[in-house]
Amino acid sequence: MSVMKKKKLIAGNWKMNGSLAANEALLKALLQDIGAPACDVAVCVPAPYLAQVQALAAGSPIAVGAQDLSAQPQGAFTGEQSALMLKDFGVRYAIVGHSERRQYHGESDELVAAKTAAALANGITPIVCVGETLAQREAGETEEVVKRQLAAVIHVNGHCISEIVVAYEPVWAIGTGKTATPEQAQAVHAVLRAQLHHAASDHADGIRILYGGSMNAANAAELLAQPDIDGGLIGGASLKAPDFLQIIAAAR
Ligand code: PGA
Repeated sequence: MSVMKKKKLIAGNWKMNGSLAANEALLKALLQDIGAPACDVAVCVPAPYLAQVQALAAGSPIAVGAQDLSAQPQGAFTGEQSALMLKDFGVRYAIVGHSERRQYHGESDELVAAKTAAALANGITPIVCVGETLAQREAGETEEVVKRQLAAVIHVNGHCISEIVVAYEPVWAIGTGKTATPEQAQAVHAVLRAQLHHAASDHADGIRILYGGSMNAANAAELLAQPDIDGGLIGGASLKAPDFLQIIAAAR
């Protein structure tokens, strides 16, 4: 259980959604009503729109994030974006190891750990995603899976592990409307917190562990009230300004 009061983080994950016009409308609606939020706020946008969103969000409480980055510094890696390139666009956060990348792009625990290292080396805060599938949960493997995923990241990044953000995203809850109950989420967050304590005893309470998976305006407050839930990684609901703003308001 976390004893230190830290600012929560609400990060939108737009996934492969948006257009110049839609992004502008969404950002304008957010900026109009966001005020001075009690939490940190970010939107993780598709790479082609980084410049647009950086310009729209400049000087505002909304930080810009990427959805992925290369583990490599530069060179012959067609289609990839390096941490330094993201830095050029003012990127503060990068989602790493999202389950959709693990599933559709075959990203291994080792690659996720290497991407985490690339982000940290360049001053980008990685939002490291872990989470079990429905089959793994039903087989009683949830703890084992999330611990294995986080252990790979700790193994490579142990010296600066306090700089990461972790996101627990049960795969069965992503985009399905089936949220983990606050108790289910808290139980896994406590496991992850204990693992972080083991790796970084002095700093583990300061590491933010976000919940993600069908978090929305209606269920956010209850999830965010759990002692080890330090924010949210929001997919679908981050595309609707009123919903995203309500989640932000719930994070205090
Ligand atoms: P969701 O997505 O909120 O649409 O379930 C969350 C995520 O995949 O990060």
